[in-house]
Amino acid sequence: MQRPEQFIASMSIKEKIGQLVQFGKLKEEQDTLVKNGEIGSFLNIHGAEKINPLQQKIMQSKNPVPLIIGDDVIHGYKTIFPIPLALSCSWNIRLIEKTCEISSYEAASEGINMIFAPMVDIARDPRWGRIAEGSGEDPFLGSEIAKARVRGIQKNANPNLPKVTACVKHFISYGAAEGGRDYNTTDMSERTMREVYLPPFRAALEEGAGSLMVAFNDFNGTPVSINSFLITRLLRQELNFEGVTVSDWESIEECINHGVAVDRKDAAMKGLSAGVDIDMNSGVYLENLESIITQNPDLEEKLDQAVLRILRLKEKLGLFDSFITDPSAHLKEIRKDEYVQTARQAAVESIVLLKNNGILPLKRNKKKIAVIGPLAEDTCSPLGCWPCKGNPDNVVSFIKAFQKNPEYDILLEKGCEINSEDPASSVRAESIASQSDLVIAVMGESNNMSGENNNRSSIELPKPQRELLKKIYTINKNIILVVMSGRPIALEWEDEHMAAVLQAWHLGDESGNAINEILTGLAVPNAKLTVTVPRSTGQIPMYYNHKNTGRPSFRHYIDVADSELYPFGFGMSYTSFEYSNLRTDKKVLQEGESVTLKVDIKNTGKLQAYEICQIYMHDPVSEFSRPVKQLVAFKKISILPGETQTLSFTFSTDTFAVLNSQYLPTVEKGTIELFAGTNSRDLIKTTIEIL
Ligand code: BGC
Repeated sequence: MQRPEQFIASMSIKEKIGQLVQFGKLKEEQDTLVKNGEIGSFLNIHGAEKINPLQQKIMQSKNPVPLIIGDDVIHGYKTIFPIPLALSCSWNIRLIEKTCEISSYEAASEGINMIFAPMVDIARDPRWGRIAEGSGEDPFLGSEIAKARVRGIQKNANPNLPKVTACVKHFISYGAAEGGRDYNTTDMSERTMREVYLPPFRAALEEGAGSLMVAFNDFNGTPVSINSFLITRLLRQELNFEGVTVSDWESIEECINHGVAVDRKDAAMKGLSAGVDIDMNSGVYLENLESIITQNPDLEEKLDQAVLRILRLKEKLGLFDSFITDPSAHLKEIRKDEYVQTARQAAVESIVLLKNNGILPLKRNKKKIAVIGPLAEDTCSPLGCWPCKGNPDNVVSFIKAFQKNPEYDILLEKGCEINSEDPASSVRAESIASQSDLVIAVMGESNNMSGENNNRSSIELPKPQRELLKKIYTINKNIILVVMSGRPIALEWEDEHMAAVLQAWHLGDESGNAINEILTGLAVPNAKLTVTVPRSTGQIPMYYNHKNTGRPSFRHYIDVADSELYPFGFGMSYTSFEYSNLRTDKKVLQEGESVTLKVDIKNTGKLQAYEICQIYMHDPVSEFSRPVKQLVAFKKISILPGETQTLSFTFSTDTFAVLNSQYLPTVEKGTIELFAGTNSRDLIKTTIEIL
């Protein structure tokens, strides 16, 4: 192909507009568009047998440009990994990258070249169903994970497969939907947007993400899909993003519902003017851009810029050289053994041990164990929201894995459904609980209780399950609660009464095997929460990096303790760690200098295990109020029993910068407090001075 810059000169206006048009389903009328080369991309189409004929057809048009084929590969294509929120709890950046690389190869083998991920929206409200798709509440960890996911998706290291671009989403503040109701209004200061919600996007773009999806929500009154301040000024001019912007599903057209566009034509004009390159599925660009440009010739430049960005992306993906997917590629790629092994490791490293009175790991002696709960046998829920091409037949259920332990005499009874009672089954569950040494309750949410528009007004365990658990507790006090869910669950009663609590999320194909490894001690739990878990729904929003306020010691509510149930960064092990000797190589430094922080960590228990060491900062006096704590670094290390390791972290003074009134990072003089510890609550402290 000629360079995109030259190529564009030979394109008709219809062909140019076509590049901005994406459809989600292949309808009959789109066949003509394909023949004429007046469509640029599709989503929701898979496999060489469907995609190749389309590519071949479009390549017979006058100025042929191959199609981009997009898909939501959120946590696996065919090999399904833990939902992103779960895997973020591994804090294992290389592992996260690996899972994305695998997903990308599997998807590419079926002709996908644009992956609508990573979802990097910060989420502070667990009622919001899409908290499952992101990496939790922290901007720093979220940024590290955003980079890893982009690197993985775009690794493109297999020359036999088509190349793939990431499409980072949903720009911006989508996670702040009021009340956790998906698609809802967001209203926040520019400072909060820049300090909390922007960093993971910035990181993903710096890592080279080829495309970005704009969010459904409005932002301070203007839907992001037509928001020139966000797309043109912030994204293009300030962040220098040169890749392709994609609307969310029909989000440009939805500006009519937002009450800021008169009709489809008005919405299309506003979308193009703001800088949204691709209109996903609404057809408003297809129908209107030609007449809009005839009436507003100055907008042709905007059209050309969008076309150029799309052509450049297609060139980068190598589509002009090769647009045919090898029909046998998927046979070699899908669910390779090493992919499934990675899925197992990812699942193990995602499970957070929240409570343990010593019952875990299970002793290897003959025991009668009652397994109850609606999720024990479930092979569908572990696939989580956005299961892509995952198949329940590939999912190892909890019970299937657990029954492989010959030493346990296992009795099984559901007791209730996820959201409804089953009185007869409840009686049987009570009976097996009364005959057993201990009970494992596998409870929580099905996969359609989180994800897009699956919000909950209460984040406790669903009532029938909680009531069953309370009943069982009156019969047998040795209960291990395994919680499968797409969001953190408020477990105040459970934390008080259970012998052990495991947060096992929706872990993907290897769910049962991974939980079994943790329960039986084959693996030592090493995950840490990336969201604060409140005691009750009414405490939301609750996040560790809040401001101190003018009255920090005043109670927030009269009917619940002020603290969270489990803090950000929390997760137990089967061993214990002791932090000591936090020190810096200098106490005083000038702007532009670096400081090295060291801390000793001793494994004081009996097992080799991983620990995630977390470093936080606090600036007690600044021009603007700063969070009480802010994660600035972490390391995941393996430590032998009795061993002490010294970890070292080097920071430039930029780490401590605040955004000034023009939102430029500024290093202020004064004291900075530095903390190290095993979670965001239990920390040791030192200070430095910036002169
Ligand atoms: C979601 C996006 C997704 C798109 C395409 C939308 O409803 O918000 O995250 O990529 O659909 O499936």
